[in-house]
Amino acid sequence: MKIAFVASEITPFAKTGGLADVAAALPRTLHQMGHDLRVFMPLYSTIREKHFELHPVTDLQQMQLMLGDQIFQFSVSSSLLPGSSLIIYLIDCPELYARKGLYTTDADEHRRFILLQRAALEALRVMQFAPDILHCNDWHTALLPLLLKTSYQREPLFRTTKTVLTIHNIGYQGIFAASGMLDLGITNVIGHIRSEDRHNGQINWLKEGIYQADAVSTVSATYAREICEASGGYGLDPTLRARNDEIIGILNGVNYDSWNPEIDTTLPARYSAKDLSGKAKCKLALLELGQLELLLDRPVVGIVSRLAHQKGIDLLMGSMPTLLRSRNFFLCVLGSGDAQYVEFFNQLMHDFPERVYFHNGYDEHLAHLIEAGSDMFLMPSLYEPCGLNQMYSLKYGTVPIVRKTGGLADSVQMWDGTKGTGIVFNDYDAPAVNWAINTALDLFKQPAVWQQIIRNGMKQDFSWEKQATEYQRVYEQLTQ
Ligand code: ADP
Ligand code: GLC
Repeated sequence: MKIAFVASEITPFAKTGGLADVAAALPRTLHQMGHDLRVFMPLYSTIREKHFELHPVTDLQQMQLMLGDQIFQFSVSSSLLPGSSLIIYLIDCPELYARKGLYTTDADEHRRFILLQRAALEALRVMQFAPDILHCNDWHTALLPLLLKTSYQREPLFRTTKTVLTIHNIGYQGIFAASGMLDLGITNVIGHIRSEDRHNGQINWLKEGIYQADAVSTVSATYAREICEASGGYGLDPTLRARNDEIIGILNGVNYDSWNPEIDTTLPARYSAKDLSGKAKCKLALLELGQLELLLDRPVVGIVSRLAHQKGIDLLMGSMPTLLRSRNFFLCVLGSGDAQYVEFFNQLMHDFPERVYFHNGYDEHLAHLIEAGSDMFLMPSLYEPCGLNQMYSLKYGTVPIVRKTGGLADSVQMWDGTKGTGIVFNDYDAPAVNWAINTALDLFKQPAVWQQIIRNGMKQDFSWEKQATEYQRVYEQLTQ
């Protein structure tokens, strides 16, 4: 099939979270399966700084787009996705993408992603690529279905193109002033948007995408159900329910070329389920890095996370100080995000200098070392569309402690004495997370049991080949 895929971040070019992992691995796997893809993302200035090999694409240089009353110039460069023969097309527009981070709170934020979407369609036109499927991801690309149905309605290339919108996180919707919609270049654009969708002069891009896309999917079966309810829909549940098809839930996969302790070259030692001795070396390296006591028999609880409300750090603010006082374990945390959570972990490290290590920042190497060097991995999320780290943890023999929500519920099974891969708690409150951490710490003291849980986890297979086949099925159903 011919597939166009557009996303705001793709690893290793640019990443703030799991979207980048998925937007690299899914197209890569579909490409391996024999599909013909054109994949687009912005050429952020941070990508240039990382010195990827970029090749200007002939015919796609110094193109012009009129956004509102301003002309923007963009060019397209290509680069191979590392570890693959798939080409990624990067939209270069320094005026919009030469900023400090991938996302901003600048007044022209909407323009940055309107340009991405319009430039991708223009590039497809120049390439004369007629996609069977246009796959959009999150709010940054959620206006593509509307563009196809309006400005590009008469474009023969897109006549039979079907659109899929994957929601990676419904907590982020892209809400901008309606006036910004003029930048889409659609004649009478406001006339195309239902009056009930124009709230206080604002337009919700994700909502518009849900309304316009031919199919809507999300990244786990449980999250697909949760977002259709008022408690999980962040206001978009009525829009999702109003569709006359089901919201498709497909669990993300894991790129085991990058996340596999047997071949992970970022680690001080490699290991497998048969021989876990390398894991102990990784634990020592982590403890040393954190300037913690080098005690192998004391468990390490690891966290790698965006420090955002979604991730359940509020729960830990209530329970972690008491737990650290009453139980004997190390806590190793890597994360960046909201100031209040950064302050909380800094304070915790200050209060328990021999037991807690916190690195505030974004660090891929350390993320791998925490996965490998920890004994348990904590994800107490308020909500979690899929979550990748719990699946990485399973592969790294690091027992996940997760709340039963979204993809966490679909990928970790509670240990029941013989079966199960982790510790799962239900309620979003301090007693529940306390129970879960205490249970894990108690089980750790029983080596035979602990080994069994580790082995059950390491046997799990979340490879992308299986998951990409599910997407293929969706594409086939749409284009039949
Ligand atoms: P989300 O996309 O909501 O952040 P996921 O679990 O799907 O959650 O994906 C998070 C991804 O980002 C994982 O690959 C994780 O290792 C990575 N990550 C998160 N925070 C950091 C950080 N501070 N440093 C390095 N990697 C991080
Ligand atoms: C989002 C979600 C996360 C998911 C990721 C990739 O950022 O928060 O749960 O794994 O997208 O789909």
